Amino acid sequence: MERCFVMLKPGVVNRRIVGEVISRFERKGLKLIGLKMMNVSKDLAAEHYVEHNGKEFYQSLIDYITSGPVIAMAWESAGCVSAIRRLCGPTKVEEQMPGTIRGDFCIHMGMNVVHASDSPESGEREVSLWFNKNELCNWSDPTADTWI
Ligand code: RTP
Ligand code: MG
Repeated sequence: MERCFVMLKPGVVNRRIVGEVISRFERKGLKLIGLKMMNVSKDLAAEHYVEHNGKEFYQSLIDYITSGPVIAMAWESAGCVSAIRRLCGPTKVEEQMPGTIRGDFCIHMGMNVVHASDSPESGEREVSLWFNKNELCNWSDPTADTWI
């Protein structure tokens, strides 16, 4: 089953909107299989954003996500990566529509409050990077699965 890694960046924690943002994913009907609050080490941040190493915004990205605690989540559902990316909204501020998380909660490209895996392959890589196997919960609710 497809998996997506989502990280609520420090701006979500310090603005006390963690519950509000997580509820967007739950209301969509996605299945939460992992959740933890943590401080991110420089090493983990570097491994996570390895694709951006060398770009001009790289250091500020690392500095931001290591500046305070984040909420790390693993979600699972068919098509969850594209569903979650649509809920988050695009990277560019001028393209972020109201009703999306980025459209509603941020105005700065570098402080865009949420990270989501950008492909099913990235989802697998990032869920494995951020979670140990024993931190993921495999659960099902056949009743709910029929009406979601
Ligand atoms: P994320 O990885 O954080 O979910 O964001 P994303 O997929 O929408 O965007 P991505 O291209 O992966 O870029 C990662 C983060 O780097 C910052 N960024 N700045 N100044 C720039 O041109 C630029 N491009 C990207 C953003 O903070 C973005 O979230
Ligand atoms: Mg990205």
